[in-house]
Amino acid sequence: MKSKVRIRAAAEADLDGMVLLIERLFALEPDYPFDAAKVRRGLDLLLARKDAAALWVAELDGRAVGMCSAQIVISTAEGGPVAWVEDVVVNPDRRGQGIGRLLLDAVSAWATRRGICRLQLLADGENAAALGFYRSLDWRTTRMICLRLRPGD
Ligand SMILES: CC(C)(COP(=O)(O)OP(=O)(O)OC[C@H]1O[C@@H](n2cnc3c(N)ncnc32)[C@H](O)[C@@H]1OP(=O)(O)O)[C@@H](O)C(=O)NCCC(=O)NCCS
Repeated sequence: MKSKVRIRAAAEADLDGMVLLIERLFALEPDYPFDAAKVRRGLDLLLARKDAAALWVAELDGRAVGMCSAQIVISTAEGGPVAWVEDVVVNPDRRGQGIGRLLLDAVSAWATRRGICRLQLLADGENAAALGFYRSLDWRTTRMICLRLRPGD
């Protein structure tokens, strides 16, 4: 019998699996050096922030084979809440099977329920596969670029 993917809210028991998935993701994103302890702490904080964040896993045969997260911020441009989508990744052996689409569908449904009028994300400019994926799901690029500062450095 063919196994079915289930998109569900992530829980503490998914932490190890999510850390591994994010290691795979950061391998493609040189802007994000992978540090397992920091990733785990970040995931813990997200799990605890139920009012303003959400984490999903794609479960197949009892294993997390994909994940994504979203966090709410207030936009002055929109005059209301918008959300940053991050940590979008599917295990290499499960890519191209519709799991990424299911994860983003779950984010969209959550955003609609929460009155969030815009989703946004950062993608590595050289990650052509991810950019193709988002475009095929109607995400549009903007003129904005990302700038960073580490205060105190
Ligand atoms: C990007 C990623 C999350 C997509 O997940 P996925 O499960 O492989 O994607 P899906 O199978 O759900 O594809 C959904 C749609 O996107 C399209 N798509 C996927 N990859 C594509 C590509 N490289 N170019 C164009 N379209 C693409 C699919 O054709 C599909 O459209 P369809 O349903 O009309 O056929 C996954 O490939 C991945 O984990 N990549 C590595 C991590 C990464 O780059 N994450 C993004 C960080 S910003």
